[in-house]
Amino acid sequence: METISFVRLEKVSEEIAKTFTRWESDLELIPLSRPNRSQEDLKKVEVVTVEALEHRLERNTIFLIYSGSKLVGEINYQIDPPQLFKKVRGTAWVGITIGEKEARGKGIGSQAMQFLEKEILAAGLKRIELGVFEFNKPAIALYRKMGYVEIGRIADFTFWNGRMWQDIRMEKFPGV
Ligand SMILES: CC(C)(COP(=O)(O)OP(=O)(O)OC[C@H]1O[C@@H](n2cnc3c(N)ncnc32)[C@H](O)[C@@H]1OP(=O)(O)O)[C@@H](O)C(=O)NCCC(=O)NCCS
Repeated sequence: METISFVRLEKVSEEIAKTFTRWESDLELIPLSRPNRSQEDLKKVEVVTVEALEHRLERNTIFLIYSGSKLVGEINYQIDPPQLFKKVRGTAWVGITIGEKEARGKGIGSQAMQFLEKEILAAGLKRIELGVFEFNKPAIALYRKMGYVEIGRIADFTFWNGRMWQDIRMEKFPGV
């Protein structure tokens, strides 16, 4: 087993932006990682430029996930973004992508979530909220296993497989 490590993204390189572009253009990942309004939306891909990724860093704290020396994914949080289901001050909105297929299902997602919860606590935040599409069973299983509890559902949130699906919102109070 390779060692898993987490590195805060501070300086964006061309290579990192290219890797994000590859993940965000992956037709298997697009339905899981962003809301889509239609079948056409599911095919839309955009280049993630160095500037665009730097812009994300103004609001997001991003950690790169390495397996050995290979960049396999990213995990991030944002403080009190507008999309929160429950607008509790001091909430971290969390997102995770294990971009490399061969790195999934090996415990890396669990480890990354544990790591991020510690970072969130250290940043003085008391609550975590996340959104997961109702058809994303592996992700729902991961969050449940880690103690996340469903707090609400938003209907007609994203298009996949011929119809619209709900967004499930979950919360956790880390450290409690
Ligand atoms: C969802 C994701 C973050 C999980 O990370 P991972 O490293 O693959 O998951 P882990 O190996 O740590 O597994 C943790 C738990 O997740 C669940 N899980 C993971 N893969 C699963 C699968 N293929 N089917 C069902 N459950 C699965 C299980 O509950 C597992 O616990 P267990 O091993 O004790 O059964 C990762 O697969 C991923 O990035 N997927 C694509 C993008 C995505 O869906 N992001 C989340 C959007 S909300």
